[in-house]
Amino acid sequence: MVHSPPNLATVDMRIDDRQFAHLASLIQHHFGILLPPQKRPLLAQRMRRVVVDAGYSDFDAFFEAHFTRTPSIEILGRLIDRVSTNHTFFWREAEHLIHLRDVVLPEIVRGGKRDLRLWCAAAATGEEPWTLAMLVAGAVPTGWEAGILATDISARALATAQKGVYKTENVSRLPAALRDRWMVPGPDDTVRIADALRREVTWRRLNLIGASFPYKHPMDVVFCRNVMIYFDEPTRRDVVRRIAEVTRPGGWLFIGHSETLGRTDAVWRFERPGTYRRVG
Ligand SMILES: C[S@@+](CC[C@H](N)C(=O)[O-])C[C@H]1O[C@@H](n2cnc3c(N)ncnc32)[C@H](O)[C@@H]1O
Repeated sequence: MVHSPPNLATVDMRIDDRQFAHLASLIQHHFGILLPPQKRPLLAQRMRRVVVDAGYSDFDAFFEAHFTRTPSIEILGRLIDRVSTNHTFFWREAEHLIHLRDVVLPEIVRGGKRDLRLWCAAAATGEEPWTLAMLVAGAVPTGWEAGILATDISARALATAQKGVYKTENVSRLPAALRDRWMVPGPDDTVRIADALRREVTWRRLNLIGASFPYKHPMDVVFCRNVMIYFDEPTRRDVVRRIAEVTRPGGWLFIGHSETLGRTDAVWRFERPGTYRRVG
């Protein structure tokens, strides 16, 4: 019998209850992301490419080969690349960005410490951290040191982010002044981030779940938006606590509009929706 090579159209992606429960528990354990049973079709659809690329024509054989013992870091990385939702867009939840530009950055600059650290902790494909970099670059006086750290668990999303090339229509929400200053027209209806801004951002793959964050210098501002919605409550609380450990007293935390900090997160004081300040 002749076997044709696995392909996306014919791969058998049936995932049974036991396999789904196993993957969901692995994903929650390693990445904090909850995968309720109704996400099984989504998981099957997103894993299709991983299964084919690994050379299998059915999920069953792929599962047996990779998940019946401790999975490799590599396969876990491919799994999270597919499972994570990287949806983001320029100028998302703009009130936060305007508050950063008009209130937070001027206050930091008035403080005169000549050094500013901002961390974007769920950078996805880069729209958010590049925007933050534009706002910081427009605010800090000459002679200041400004460090912007952009992290995400998904290597695939980070690769797109670092390229810094976007469809022109996708940047239309950005205020024109930012677009004109920091984006350079490219071929085929694209724009690319200007070189001057590229130098300002450091990209790292980082899992928000797990050990303390490895940052020596305290952050002035942390953006951690629209990622904790995927976490269960103890995980979310733990992430928020560890962010506080690396934020200076008085520093800011921005979370998504549909996210909240609970009463147990007393180290953060509510400033306005989605915006908190670290208690001293
Ligand atoms: C929906 S996007 C949000 C992007 C952006 N912050 C925004 O608000 O538009 C969520 C991002 O969180 C990342 N993510 C999910 N789980 C993570 C984890 N355990 N550690 C770090 N990043 C994670 C995903 O890879 C994805 O890029």
